Amino acid sequence: MTRLTELAHAAVRTVLAAGEASIDATAGNGHDTRFLSVLVGPMGSVFAFDIQPEALARTAQKLHEASNVTLCQRDHAEMRNEIPPEFHGRIGAVMFNLGYLPGGDKSFTTQADSTLKAIASALELLRSGGILTVVAYIGHPGGSDEAEAVTNLLAKLPAGFSLREERNEESISAAPRLFVVHKRLAVG
Ligand SMILES: C[S@@+](CC[C@H](N)C(=O)[O-])C[C@H]1O[C@@H](n2cnc3c(N)ncnc32)[C@H](O)[C@@H]1O
Repeated sequence: MTRLTELAHAAVRTVLAAGEASIDATAGNGHDTRFLSVLVGPMGSVFAFDIQPEALARTAQKLHEASNVTLCQRDHAEMRNEIPPEFHGRIGAVMFNLGYLPGGDKSFTTQADSTLKAIASALELLRSGGILTVVAYIGHPGGSDEAEAVTNLLAKLPAGFSLREERNEESISAAPRLFVVHKRLAVG
């Protein structure tokens, strides 16, 4: 079975090009940060957010000193202030993988309030044609409410964005969900 995280990578691969800037909003164990780092290459950049030093340390270990990644120990709700202004409107991809750090402290889970603020900022930071992915889990405390809040926010996307929800073979009510948002290419 293809995991939703792999489907998210496949979706990002269709959009994000070498040399571009990108954001991992939840660095965690660093899988998505490493994926983005390899995809954008030495001329590109990745801004990786996490509130837990342990997560950023694990992420750093996965990167083998890749110099195109900036680790930000910050709430992703603050991403608009953290991303240098020259990248605003020029971000090719933003990835969210919600929930807690696997193998870590499960009390540090993403929260609906800051997740919604961060997604709203991410939509502003995207370039025309850029992509946002959100993997949401509903099996942990608060996860179901957070997934519902994300669903409601993305159901009311401003003009110029399109949403699709991807499902794998195991798409039952308790399974994780993958939301893929595209910012439409500007015409003319
Ligand atoms: C499921 S893990 C992410 C997995 C990661 N993308 C990977 O590839 O390994 C979720 C992460 O979100 C982090 N997190 C929770 N709240 C956050 C917030 N407000 N801002 C940034 N990161 C947050 C947690 O510390 C945890 O490491």
